[in-house]
Amino acid sequence: MPQVIALPILGVLVVFVLPTTAEADQALLPQALLGCSDHCGNVTIPYPFGMAKGCYRGPEFFINCTTGTTPDEEPIPYLTTRSGTDDLIQIHVTNISLKGELHVLQPITRACDADLNVGRETDLPLPPPFTFSNTKNNFFTIGCGSSGNLLGFRPGLGLDGHTLSNIHRYCFTFCDDNSSGNDTDLVITDDSCSGFACSLSSLPSGVQYISIILSRSMPTNWYSSYPCRYAFLAEKSEFTFSPNTSFQQLSNTSHLPVVVNWEIGDHGPCDLAQRSKHADFACKGNSTCINWPNVTRPTGYICQCKEGYQGNPYLPDGCQGDETRSS
Ligand SMILES: *[C@@H]1O[C@H](CO)[C@@H](O)[C@H](O)[C@H]1NC(C)=O
Ligand SMILES: *[C@@H]1O[C@H](CO)[C@@H](O)[C@H](O)[C@H]1NC(C)=O
Ligand SMILES: *[C@@H]1O[C@H](CO)[C@@H](O)[C@H](O)[C@H]1NC(C)=O
Ligand SMILES: *[C@@H]1O[C@H](CO)[C@@H](O)[C@H](O)[C@H]1NC(C)=O
Ligand SMILES: *[C@@H]1O[C@H](CO)[C@@H](O)[C@H](O)[C@H]1NC(C)=O
Ligand SMILES: *[C@@H]1O[C@H](CO)[C@@H](O)[C@H](O)[C@H]1NC(C)=O
Ligand SMILES: *[C@@H]1O[C@H](CO)[C@@H](O)[C@H](O)[C@H]1NC(C)=O
Ligand SMILES: *[C@@H]1O[C@H](CO)[C@@H](O)[C@H](O)[C@H]1NC(C)=O
Ligand SMILES: *[C@@H]1O[C@H](CO)[C@@H](O)[C@H](O)[C@H]1NC(C)=O
Repeated sequence: MPQVIALPILGVLVVFVLPTTAEADQALLPQALLGCSDHCGNVTIPYPFGMAKGCYRGPEFFINCTTGTTPDEEPIPYLTTRSGTDDLIQIHVTNISLKGELHVLQPITRACDADLNVGRETDLPLPPPFTFSNTKNNFFTIGCGSSGNLLGFRPGLGLDGHTLSNIHRYCFTFCDDNSSGNDTDLVITDDSCSGFACSLSSLPSGVQYISIILSRSMPTNWYSSYPCRYAFLAEKSEFTFSPNTSFQQLSNTSHLPVVVNWEIGDHGPCDLAQRSKHADFACKGNSTCINWPNVTRPTGYICQCKEGYQGNPYLPDGCQGDETRSS
Protein backbone atom coordinates (compact mmCIF):
# COMPACT_ATOMS: atom_id res chain seq x y z
CA MET A 1 0.00 0.00 0.00
CA PRO A 2 1.30 3.52 -0.75
CA GLN A 3 2.07 5.80 2.17
CA VAL A 4 0.17 9.05 2.24
CA ILE A 5 2.06 11.97 3.75
CA ALA A 6 0.57 15.41 4.27
CA LEU A 7 2.94 18.38 4.73
CA PRO A 8 2.02 22.03 5.17
CA ILE A 9 4.31 23.96 2.80
CA LEU A 10 4.00 27.78 2.59
CA GLY A 11 0.64 27.49 4.22
CA VAL A 12 -0.70 25.17 1.50
CA LEU A 13 -1.43 21.60 2.38
CA VAL A 14 0.44 19.42 -0.13
CA VAL A 15 -0.29 15.73 -0.16
CA PHE A 16 2.41 13.36 -1.39
CA VAL A 17 1.52 9.81 -2.25
CA LEU A 18 4.74 7.86 -1.95
CA PRO A 19 4.90 4.69 -4.00
CA THR A 20 6.40 1.64 -2.36
CA THR A 21 7.96 -0.08 -5.39
CA ALA A 22 10.44 1.06 -8.02
CA GLU A 23 7.86 0.26 -10.69
CA ALA A 24 5.31 2.58 -9.17
CA ASP A 25 8.09 5.19 -8.95
CA GLN A 26 8.57 4.99 -12.71
CA ALA A 27 4.87 5.29 -13.33
CA LEU A 28 4.61 8.56 -11.39
CA LEU A 29 7.45 10.30 -13.21
CA PRO A 30 6.46 12.19 -16.35
CA GLN A 31 6.98 10.22 -19.57
CA ALA A 32 5.85 12.80 -22.13
CA LEU A 33 6.64 16.48 -22.71
CA LEU A 34 4.62 18.95 -20.69
CA GLY A 35 1.13 19.28 -22.14
CA CYS A 36 1.42 16.08 -24.17
CA SER A 37 -0.54 12.89 -23.68
CA ASP A 38 1.56 9.93 -22.54
CA HIS A 39 -0.88 7.11 -23.27
CA CYS A 40 -2.56 5.53 -26.27
CA GLY A 41 -5.02 2.98 -24.97
CA ASN A 42 -3.08 1.12 -22.32
CA VAL A 43 0.32 1.65 -23.97
CA THR A 44 2.65 4.27 -22.46
CA ILE A 45 4.10 6.57 -25.14
CA PRO A 46 7.32 8.04 -23.66
CA TYR A 47 9.19 10.96 -25.24
CA PRO A 48 11.00 10.99 -27.79
CA PHE A 49 7.83 9.27 -29.04
CA GLY A 50 4.68 11.36 -29.20
CA MET A 51 1.25 11.53 -30.76
CA ALA A 52 0.72 15.21 -31.48
CA LYS A 53 2.71 17.98 -33.18
CA GLY A 54 5.36 19.31 -30.82
CA CYS A 55 5.18 16.16 -28.71
CA TYR A 56 7.73 13.99 -30.52
CA ARG A 57 11.43 14.58 -31.15
CA GLY A 58 11.21 14.14 -34.92
CA PRO A 59 8.76 12.71 -37.46
CA GLU A 60 10.35 9.28 -37.05
CA PHE A 61 8.99 9.13 -33.50
CA PHE A 62 5.42 9.99 -34.43
CA ILE A 63 2.88 7.47 -33.11
CA ASN A 64 -0.50 7.44 -34.82
CA CYS A 65 -2.96 6.75 -32.02
CA THR A 66 -6.09 5.63 -33.83
CA THR A 67 -9.39 5.30 -32.07
CA GLY A 68 -11.20 2.01 -32.44
CA THR A 69 -14.14 1.55 -34.76
CA THR A 70 -16.47 1.18 -31.77
CA PRO A 71 -16.38 3.47 -28.69
CA ASP A 72 -15.49 0.64 -26.28
CA GLU A 73 -12.50 -0.44 -28.38
CA GLU A 74 -9.10 0.62 -27.01
CA PRO A 75 -7.22 3.11 -29.23
CA ILE A 76 -4.23 1.46 -30.94
CA PRO A 77 -0.78 3.07 -31.36
CA TYR A 78 0.78 2.64 -34.80
CA LEU A 79 4.17 3.35 -36.28
CA THR A 80 3.70 4.39 -39.89
CA THR A 81 5.90 3.49 -42.84
CA ARG A 82 5.73 2.61 -46.53
CA SER A 83 6.34 -0.65 -48.34
CA GLY A 84 8.59 -1.03 -51.39
CA THR A 85 5.52 -0.40 -53.54
CA ASP A 86 4.73 2.77 -51.55
CA ASP A 87 1.70 1.33 -49.74
CA LEU A 88 1.07 2.89 -46.34
CA ILE A 89 1.88 0.34 -43.64
CA GLN A 90 0.73 0.81 -40.05
CA ILE A 91 2.65 -1.25 -37.50
CA HIS A 92 0.75 -2.03 -34.30
CA VAL A 93 2.93 -1.07 -31.30
CA THR A 94 2.20 -3.00 -28.09
CA ASN A 95 4.90 -1.57 -25.81
CA ILE A 96 7.70 1.01 -25.90
CA SER A 97 10.75 0.56 -23.71
CA LEU A 98 13.13 3.44 -23.09
CA LYS A 99 15.92 0.85 -23.32
CA GLY A 100 15.86 1.18 -27.12
CA GLU A 101 13.21 -1.46 -27.76
CA LEU A 102 9.72 -1.48 -29.15
CA HIS A 103 7.29 -4.40 -29.15
CA VAL A 104 5.21 -4.64 -32.32
CA LEU A 105 2.92 -7.14 -34.02
CA GLN A 106 3.94 -8.39 -37.46
CA PRO A 107 1.94 -10.47 -39.91
CA ILE A 108 2.66 -14.14 -40.43
CA THR A 109 2.83 -15.55 -43.96
CA ARG A 110 0.51 -18.48 -44.49
CA ALA A 111 -0.10 -20.71 -47.48
CA CYS A 112 -2.32 -23.75 -47.67
CA ASP A 113 -2.16 -26.26 -50.49
CA ALA A 114 -4.49 -24.47 -52.85
CA ASP A 115 -2.40 -21.28 -52.53
CA LEU A 116 0.93 -22.93 -53.14
CA ASN A 117 1.10 -22.96 -56.89
CA VAL A 118 2.56 -19.51 -56.45
CA GLY A 119 4.68 -18.51 -53.48
CA ARG A 120 3.30 -16.16 -50.88
CA GLU A 121 5.21 -12.98 -50.18
CA THR A 122 4.98 -10.63 -47.22
CA ASP A 123 6.99 -7.45 -46.77
CA LEU A 124 7.91 -6.22 -43.31
CA PRO A 125 9.32 -2.71 -43.68
CA LEU A 126 10.55 -0.53 -40.83
CA PRO A 127 11.23 3.17 -41.20
CA PRO A 128 14.64 4.45 -40.05
CA PRO A 129 15.85 4.54 -37.25
CA PHE A 130 14.11 1.24 -36.48
CA THR A 131 15.70 -2.18 -37.04
CA PHE A 132 14.63 -5.72 -36.22
CA SER A 133 16.29 -6.91 -33.01
CA ASN A 134 18.75 -9.66 -33.86
CA THR A 135 19.08 -10.84 -30.28
CA LYS A 136 15.35 -11.16 -29.52
CA ASN A 137 13.82 -12.51 -32.78
CA ASN A 138 14.11 -15.60 -34.95
CA PHE A 139 12.85 -16.39 -38.43
CA PHE A 140 10.60 -19.46 -38.34
CA THR A 141 9.31 -21.71 -41.10
CA ILE A 142 6.65 -24.24 -40.12
CA GLY A 143 4.95 -27.03 -42.02
CA CYS A 144 5.58 -30.28 -43.84
CA GLY A 145 7.61 -29.63 -46.95
CA SER A 146 7.89 -25.87 -46.63
CA SER A 147 10.46 -23.51 -47.99
CA GLY A 148 10.77 -20.17 -46.21
CA ASN A 149 13.00 -17.60 -47.84
CA LEU A 150 13.87 -14.39 -46.02
CA LEU A 151 15.52 -11.46 -47.74
CA GLY A 152 16.69 -8.71 -45.43
CA PHE A 153 18.03 -5.28 -46.28
CA ARG A 154 20.54 -3.44 -44.12
CA PRO A 155 20.99 0.17 -45.17
CA GLY A 156 24.37 1.62 -44.40
CA LEU A 157 25.93 -1.69 -43.50
CA GLY A 158 27.42 -2.71 -46.82
CA LEU A 159 31.04 -3.70 -47.25
CA ASP A 160 32.00 -0.09 -47.88
CA GLY A 161 30.04 1.03 -44.85
CA HIS A 162 27.52 2.98 -46.90
CA THR A 163 25.60 0.96 -49.44
CA LEU A 164 22.69 -1.30 -48.79
CA SER A 165 23.59 -4.85 -47.94
CA ASN A 166 21.33 -7.85 -48.37
CA ILE A 167 21.05 -10.90 -46.21
CA HIS A 168 19.45 -14.22 -47.13
CA ARG A 169 18.04 -16.95 -44.94
CA TYR A 170 16.51 -20.16 -46.22
CA CYS A 171 14.63 -22.58 -44.02
CA PHE A 172 13.31 -25.96 -45.18
CA THR A 173 11.05 -28.30 -43.28
CA PHE A 174 10.24 -31.96 -43.76
CA CYS A 175 8.07 -34.45 -41.99
CA ASP A 176 8.29 -38.22 -41.85
CA ASP A 177 5.95 -40.40 -43.79
CA ASN A 178 4.51 -43.15 -41.76
CA SER A 179 3.85 -45.73 -44.45
CA SER A 180 5.88 -45.14 -47.57
CA GLY A 181 4.00 -43.06 -50.07
CA ASN A 182 0.85 -42.71 -47.96
CA ASP A 183 0.64 -39.07 -47.14
CA THR A 184 -2.19 -39.38 -44.64
CA ASP A 185 -0.12 -41.22 -42.06
CA LEU A 186 2.10 -38.48 -40.92
CA VAL A 187 3.99 -38.46 -37.67
CA ILE A 188 5.37 -35.31 -36.07
CA THR A 189 7.25 -36.21 -32.93
CA ASP A 190 10.11 -33.77 -32.70
CA ASP A 191 9.62 -30.36 -31.10
CA SER A 192 13.19 -29.05 -31.41
CA CYS A 193 12.56 -26.88 -34.51
CA SER A 194 15.64 -28.26 -36.25
CA GLY A 195 14.12 -29.02 -39.64
CA PHE A 196 11.45 -31.52 -38.67
CA ALA A 197 8.19 -29.62 -39.34
CA CYS A 198 9.90 -26.49 -38.02
CA SER A 199 13.08 -24.71 -38.92
CA LEU A 200 14.53 -21.48 -37.59
CA SER A 201 17.29 -19.04 -38.33
CA SER A 202 18.68 -16.00 -36.55
CA LEU A 203 19.27 -12.59 -38.12
CA PRO A 204 22.18 -10.16 -38.03
CA SER A 205 21.73 -6.71 -36.50
CA GLY A 206 20.65 -3.66 -38.47
CA VAL A 207 17.99 -5.25 -40.71
CA GLN A 208 15.38 -2.69 -41.70
CA TYR A 209 13.36 -4.27 -44.48
CA ILE A 210 12.38 -7.92 -44.66
CA SER A 211 10.66 -9.83 -47.46
CA ILE A 212 9.44 -13.32 -46.64
CA ILE A 213 8.62 -15.71 -49.46
CA LEU A 214 6.89 -18.94 -48.57
CA SER A 215 6.55 -21.84 -50.97
CA ARG A 216 6.44 -25.61 -50.83
CA SER A 217 9.42 -27.87 -51.19
CA MET A 218 7.33 -31.02 -51.80
CA PRO A 219 4.53 -31.96 -54.20
CA THR A 220 1.04 -31.04 -53.01
CA ASN A 221 -0.08 -34.60 -52.51
CA TRP A 222 2.53 -35.24 -49.85
CA TYR A 223 1.63 -34.45 -46.27
CA SER A 224 -2.03 -33.84 -46.99
CA SER A 225 -2.90 -34.00 -43.29
CA TYR A 226 -0.82 -30.81 -42.78
CA PRO A 227 -1.89 -28.68 -45.73
CA CYS A 228 -0.78 -25.31 -44.31
CA ARG A 229 2.70 -23.80 -44.13
CA TYR A 230 3.82 -20.69 -42.27
CA ALA A 231 6.84 -18.39 -42.31
CA PHE A 232 7.31 -15.45 -39.96
CA LEU A 233 9.55 -13.43 -37.73
CA ALA A 234 8.71 -13.75 -34.04
CA GLU A 235 10.05 -12.86 -30.65
CA LYS A 236 11.96 -15.96 -29.47
CA SER A 237 10.35 -15.93 -26.04
CA GLU A 238 6.86 -15.62 -27.54
CA PHE A 239 6.89 -18.52 -29.98
CA THR A 240 7.88 -22.07 -29.09
CA PHE A 241 7.28 -24.81 -31.59
CA SER A 242 5.25 -27.75 -30.41
CA PRO A 243 3.90 -30.21 -32.98
CA ASN A 244 0.79 -30.79 -30.88
CA THR A 245 -0.26 -27.16 -30.60
CA SER A 246 1.58 -24.94 -33.09
CA PHE A 247 -0.42 -25.90 -36.19
CA GLN A 248 -3.69 -25.15 -34.44
CA GLN A 249 -2.34 -21.97 -32.86
CA LEU A 250 -1.01 -20.69 -36.19
CA SER A 251 -4.22 -21.50 -38.04
CA ASN A 252 -5.91 -18.92 -35.82
CA THR A 253 -3.16 -16.30 -35.71
CA SER A 254 -2.58 -13.41 -38.09
CA HIS A 255 0.18 -11.54 -36.22
CA LEU A 256 2.93 -12.39 -33.73
CA PRO A 257 5.06 -10.23 -31.39
CA VAL A 258 8.38 -8.97 -32.78
CA VAL A 259 11.03 -6.83 -31.03
CA VAL A 260 12.28 -3.77 -32.86
CA ASN A 261 15.28 -1.66 -31.83
CA TRP A 262 15.02 2.10 -31.94
CA GLU A 263 17.76 4.70 -31.56
CA ILE A 264 18.46 8.39 -31.88
CA GLY A 265 20.02 8.04 -35.32
CA ASP A 266 20.27 11.52 -36.75
CA HIS A 267 23.95 12.19 -35.99
CA GLY A 268 25.59 8.79 -35.41
CA PRO A 269 26.87 7.29 -32.17
CA CYS A 270 27.48 9.14 -28.86
CA ASP A 271 30.87 10.71 -29.57
CA LEU A 272 29.83 12.11 -32.97
CA ALA A 273 26.42 13.32 -31.81
CA GLN A 274 27.93 14.97 -28.71
CA ARG A 275 30.50 16.82 -30.82
CA SER A 276 28.16 17.77 -33.68
CA LYS A 277 27.16 21.42 -33.83
CA HIS A 278 23.95 20.44 -35.62
CA ALA A 279 22.82 17.62 -33.37
CA ASP A 280 20.16 18.28 -30.82
CA PHE A 281 21.76 15.96 -28.30
CA ALA A 282 18.97 13.85 -26.82
CA CYS A 283 20.40 12.86 -23.42
CA LYS A 284 19.33 15.37 -20.80
CA GLY A 285 20.51 15.97 -17.22
CA ASN A 286 21.71 13.10 -15.01
CA SER A 287 21.80 10.68 -17.92
CA THR A 288 24.47 8.91 -19.95
CA CYS A 289 24.74 8.14 -23.64
CA ILE A 290 24.96 4.54 -24.88
CA ASN A 291 26.01 3.54 -28.38
CA TRP A 292 23.18 1.59 -30.04
CA PRO A 293 21.85 -0.82 -31.29
CA ASN A 294 25.12 -2.76 -31.43
CA VAL A 295 27.61 -1.21 -29.00
CA THR A 296 30.59 -2.37 -31.07
CA ARG A 297 29.05 -1.24 -34.36
CA PRO A 298 26.60 1.54 -33.47
CA THR A 299 24.62 3.62 -35.92
CA GLY A 300 23.15 5.85 -33.22
CA TYR A 301 22.61 6.06 -29.49
CA ILE A 302 20.11 5.82 -26.66
CA CYS A 303 20.11 7.57 -23.29
CA GLN A 304 19.91 6.08 -19.83
CA CYS A 305 19.46 7.70 -16.43
CA LYS A 306 22.64 7.52 -14.33
CA GLU A 307 22.75 4.99 -11.53
CA GLY A 308 20.57 6.14 -8.66
CA TYR A 309 18.28 8.11 -10.99
CA GLN A 310 14.91 7.15 -12.40
CA GLY A 311 12.73 8.51 -15.15
CA ASN A 312 12.84 9.50 -18.79
CA PRO A 313 16.38 10.63 -19.79
CA TYR A 314 15.08 12.34 -22.94
CA LEU A 315 13.06 14.89 -20.97
CA PRO A 316 14.59 18.00 -19.36
CA ASP A 317 14.84 17.13 -15.63
CA GLY A 318 13.55 13.67 -16.60
CA CYS A 319 16.05 11.73 -14.46
CA GLN A 320 15.28 12.20 -10.79
CA GLY A 321 17.53 11.04 -7.97
CA ASP A 322 16.06 8.34 -5.74
CA GLU A 323 17.36 10.09 -2.60
CA THR A 324 15.45 13.31 -3.30
CA ARG A 325 12.15 11.52 -3.50
CA SER A 326 12.23 8.71 -0.95
CA SER A 327 12.42 9.21 2.87
C1 LIG B 1 -3.08 -3.76 -23.13
O1 LIG B 1 -4.27 -4.49 -23.08
C2 LIG B 1 -4.25 -5.70 -23.80
C3 LIG B 1 -5.61 -6.34 -23.76
O2 LIG B 1 -6.53 -5.52 -23.14
C4 LIG B 1 -3.19 -6.61 -23.22
O3 LIG B 1 -3.13 -7.82 -23.95
C5 LIG B 1 -1.85 -5.92 -23.28
O4 LIG B 1 -0.86 -6.70 -22.67
C6 LIG B 1 -1.91 -4.56 -22.60
N1 LIG B 1 -0.66 -3.87 -22.87
C7 LIG B 1 0.05 -3.24 -21.94
C8 LIG B 1 1.28 -2.54 -22.40
O5 LIG B 1 -0.30 -3.23 -20.77
C1 LIG C 1 -3.49 7.54 -38.74
O1 LIG C 1 -4.19 6.35 -39.00
C2 LIG C 1 -5.46 6.57 -39.56
C3 LIG C 1 -6.19 5.23 -39.61
O2 LIG C 1 -5.46 4.27 -40.29
C4 LIG C 1 -5.28 7.19 -40.94
O3 LIG C 1 -6.52 7.41 -41.53
C5 LIG C 1 -4.53 8.50 -40.78
O4 LIG C 1 -4.25 9.03 -42.04
C6 LIG C 1 -3.23 8.30 -40.01
N1 LIG C 1 -2.67 9.60 -39.71
C7 LIG C 1 -1.42 9.93 -40.04
C8 LIG C 1 -1.01 11.32 -39.70
O5 LIG C 1 -0.66 9.14 -40.57
C1 LIG D 1 6.30 -2.71 -21.33
O1 LIG D 1 7.61 -2.23 -21.19
C2 LIG D 1 7.93 -1.83 -19.89
C3 LIG D 1 9.29 -1.18 -19.93
O2 LIG D 1 10.23 -2.01 -20.53
C4 LIG D 1 7.86 -3.05 -18.98
O3 LIG D 1 8.16 -2.68 -17.66
C5 LIG D 1 6.46 -3.65 -19.04
O4 LIG D 1 6.41 -4.84 -18.30
C6 LIG D 1 6.06 -3.94 -20.46
N1 LIG D 1 4.67 -4.31 -20.49
C7 LIG D 1 4.23 -5.33 -21.22
C8 LIG D 1 2.75 -5.60 -21.17
O5 LIG D 1 4.96 -6.02 -21.91
C1 LIG E 1 1.54 -45.49 -38.72
O1 LIG E 1 0.20 -45.64 -39.16
C2 LIG E 1 -0.43 -46.76 -38.63
C3 LIG E 1 -1.80 -46.90 -39.31
O2 LIG E 1 -2.47 -45.68 -39.31
C4 LIG E 1 -0.54 -46.65 -37.10
O3 LIG E 1 -1.13 -47.79 -36.55
C5 LIG E 1 0.87 -46.47 -36.52
O4 LIG E 1 0.80 -46.19 -35.15
C6 LIG E 1 1.58 -45.31 -37.20
N1 LIG E 1 2.97 -45.26 -36.75
C7 LIG E 1 3.44 -44.28 -35.97
C8 LIG E 1 4.89 -44.35 -35.63
O5 LIG E 1 2.74 -43.35 -35.60
C1 LIG F 1 -3.33 -44.94 -47.53
O1 LIG F 1 -4.38 -44.31 -46.79
C2 LIG F 1 -5.67 -44.49 -47.32
C3 LIG F 1 -6.64 -43.65 -46.53
O2 LIG F 1 -6.45 -43.80 -45.17
C4 LIG F 1 -6.00 -45.98 -47.28
O3 LIG F 1 -7.27 -46.19 -47.85
C5 LIG F 1 -4.94 -46.75 -48.05
O4 LIG F 1 -5.16 -48.14 -47.92
C6 LIG F 1 -3.54 -46.44 -47.58
N1 LIG F 1 -2.53 -47.03 -48.43
C7 LIG F 1 -1.47 -47.69 -47.95
C8 LIG F 1 -0.50 -48.21 -48.97
O5 LIG F 1 -1.25 -47.81 -46.73
C1 LIG G 1 1.98 -34.52 -28.05
O1 LIG G 1 0.94 -35.50 -28.20
C2 LIG G 1 1.38 -36.83 -28.07
C3 LIG G 1 0.25 -37.78 -28.41
O2 LIG G 1 -0.96 -37.27 -27.89
C4 LIG G 1 1.89 -37.03 -26.62
O3 LIG G 1 2.38 -38.34 -26.47
C5 LIG G 1 3.03 -36.04 -26.37
O4 LIG G 1 3.45 -36.11 -25.03
C6 LIG G 1 2.59 -34.62 -26.67
N1 LIG G 1 3.75 -33.76 -26.60
C7 LIG G 1 3.75 -32.60 -25.92
C8 LIG G 1 5.02 -31.82 -25.95
O5 LIG G 1 2.77 -32.21 -25.31
C1 LIG H 1 -8.92 -21.60 -33.02
O1 LIG H 1 -10.22 -21.16 -33.39
C2 LIG H 1 -11.24 -22.11 -33.12
C3 LIG H 1 -12.55 -21.58 -33.67
O2 LIG H 1 -12.56 -20.20 -33.79
C4 LIG H 1 -11.30 -22.35 -31.60
O3 LIG H 1 -12.28 -23.31 -31.31
C5 LIG H 1 -9.94 -22.87 -31.13
O4 LIG H 1 -9.94 -22.99 -29.73
C6 LIG H 1 -8.83 -21.91 -31.53
N1 LIG H 1 -7.55 -22.51 -31.20
C7 LIG H 1 -6.56 -21.85 -30.64
C8 LIG H 1 -5.31 -22.59 -30.40
O5 LIG H 1 -6.65 -20.66 -30.35
C1 LIG I 1 28.05 -6.22 -33.28
O1 LIG I 1 28.89 -5.88 -34.35
C2 LIG I 1 30.10 -6.63 -34.39
C3 LIG I 1 30.98 -6.04 -35.48
O2 LIG I 1 30.30 -6.02 -36.71
C4 LIG I 1 29.75 -8.09 -34.62
O3 LIG I 1 30.92 -8.86 -34.64
C5 LIG I 1 28.85 -8.58 -33.49
O4 LIG I 1 28.44 -9.89 -33.73
C6 LIG I 1 27.64 -7.68 -33.37
N1 LIG I 1 26.89 -8.06 -32.19
C7 LIG I 1 25.61 -8.34 -32.23
C8 LIG I 1 24.96 -8.71 -30.93
O5 LIG I 1 24.97 -8.33 -33.27
C1 LIG J 1 20.05 15.95 -11.40
O1 LIG J 1 19.56 15.33 -10.23
C2 LIG J 1 19.58 16.19 -9.09
C3 LIG J 1 19.18 15.35 -7.91
O2 LIG J 1 17.94 14.72 -8.13
C4 LIG J 1 18.60 17.34 -9.34
O3 LIG J 1 18.64 18.23 -8.23
C5 LIG J 1 19.01 18.09 -10.59
O4 LIG J 1 18.04 19.06 -10.89
C6 LIG J 1 19.13 17.12 -11.76
N1 LIG J 1 19.67 17.85 -12.88
C7 LIG J 1 19.06 17.87 -14.06
C8 LIG J 1 19.70 18.70 -15.12
O5 LIG J 1 18.04 17.21 -14.31
